Amino acid sequence: MQLLDGKATSEQLKQEIADQVAAIKAAGGKAPHLAAVLVGSDGGSMTYVNNKVLACKRCGFDSTLLTYPDTITEAELLAVVAKLNQDPAIDGFIVQVPLPKHIDEEKITLAIDPRKDVDGFHPENLGRMLLGLPTYISATPNGIMELLKRNQIETAGKHCVVVGRSHIVGSPMSVLMARNTNPGNATVTLVHSRTPNMQEICQSADILIVAIGKPLFITADMVKNGAVVIDVGTTRVPDASDPKGFKLRGDVDFDKVKDKCSFITPVPGGVGPMTIASLMQNTLLARDFNQRKK
Ligand code: GUN
Repeated sequence: MQLLDGKATSEQLKQEIADQVAAIKAAGGKAPHLAAVLVGSDGGSMTYVNNKVLACKRCGFDSTLLTYPDTITEAELLAVVAKLNQDPAIDGFIVQVPLPKHIDEEKITLAIDPRKDVDGFHPENLGRMLLGLPTYISATPNGIMELLKRNQIETAGKHCVVVGRSHIVGSPMSVLMARNTNPGNATVTLVHSRTPNMQEICQSADILIVAIGKPLFITADMVKNGAVVIDVGTTRVPDASDPKGFKLRGDVDFDKVKDKCSFITPVPGGVGPMTIASLMQNTLLARDFNQRKK
């Protein structure tokens, strides 16, 4: 078994981005500028957003963090989005989800200018991805593709099983793995809560990508010998022995599954850091796009 070290791979990627940004600045150019909108005080979301701001520093980007209490109204948040859409200093921005229940996430996503949608959540960008046109591919699926590529994992002709059909991970992941690209060219099966024979299907996977948000969901009897296992889960599970009071748990029962795998991502330190590096890639793209517009 070999660990797919997302932390090391993401460091490599961020270094490459930082080098490009240093060259841009040395030539008198403008640094990419990412804005992040955080609503409320969910611990997980705060950590993710803080890590995104830290990654901006690491890459030489400018960043703006906008925080609002969870009492913000939908209309007020839409006004924040409209302002960021118009702000020429901001190349791209994200609105961290989940949002409080009284705010319609879909409305917010639709309000973001697709050219600044570095999360790649807007229907225009998802459509462009489906068609293989240049776009912002959402950060987690793109980060997984980069992790597979940089670790020379063969995907062509393999059976890839994606567990979970979210708009953010499972659905775009299934599209990317089926595309005529490298990585890609896999035969893809997407399974979800209504799939009756999930164990059997997972067992036939050469590459198993799990994004279902249920700790320890994938057990050893669901994994084929020699499989590549990518664990997207990051659930906070209370743990009194941990100074933080919780441990991050993936969707895969890592300890029991690891010896069956050729490659497996740890949690934390697998997909998470790749997601953030991928957002940095998208922000650099957004900066190039905005400079060309001028
Ligand atoms: N919540 C969990 N993952 C993400 C992400 O990639 N982007 C945003 N905006 N919110 C998230």
